[in-house]
Amino acid sequence: MRGLFITLEGGDGAGKSTQIRNIESFFDKKGLVVVHTREPGGTPISEKLRDILLDSGNLEMHAVTEMLIYAASRAQHVRELVKPALEKGHIVVCDRFLDSSIAYQAYGRGLGDMVDIVNSYATDGLTPDITFWMDIDPKEGKERVSKMGDFDRLEMEQMDFHYKVYGGYKALSEKYPGRIKRIDASKSVEEISEDIETHLIELCSRKGL
Ligand code: TYD
Repeated sequence: MRGLFITLEGGDGAGKSTQIRNIESFFDKKGLVVVHTREPGGTPISEKLRDILLDSGNLEMHAVTEMLIYAASRAQHVRELVKPALEKGHIVVCDRFLDSSIAYQAYGRGLGDMVDIVNSYATDGLTPDITFWMDIDPKEGKERVSKMGDFDRLEMEQMDFHYKVYGGYKALSEKYPGRIKRIDASKSVEEISEDIETHLIELCSRKGL
């Protein structure tokens, strides 16, 4: 793959959107094409699956169903959008990817290894070049989200679910220290941008960009 695949992760209210815009402008300045996308979603089919997943009316959804729909959305997204963009040499910046399924479905829902197995098909072997984990205490994240208005189906979960998700991200960041960069999301927006930029500069010099 010639491009770069960058993903952002974190609990609800971690402030990913602002940082995604900064990452985009970092690569824009280098004259590189940036494709901004998200999971669940990113293609017409995947966006339809997103609507099902986040619909706050779908409270009877079983954890296995949920995990499979996230994986289905990913399978389409990887093949229709992400891989073709990377093959063209573009920079793909994705709001959430596989680590979300590990944190939310494997740890949060307790589905364990089943999530890795299913997602090995969904991702088609694709791994991000770098992942920023926006580390925020779940309670603080929840307070930030509540100021924004309506909760989606996942945001409506109890705090113990969000702490399990947090434990999942922590475990992932310890398992993959080379790929997953922990970003202290309690810092100011400017400080966070600087931390991310430091990693991007290092990544670009490693990749000759
Ligand atoms: P979104 O509104 O994109 O959340 P945020 O703004 O916090 O990124 O909604 C995506 C929700 O789906 C979010 O709560 C995390 C969850 N999710 C999973 O549970 N598993 C997954 O594989 C992905 C990609 C997301």
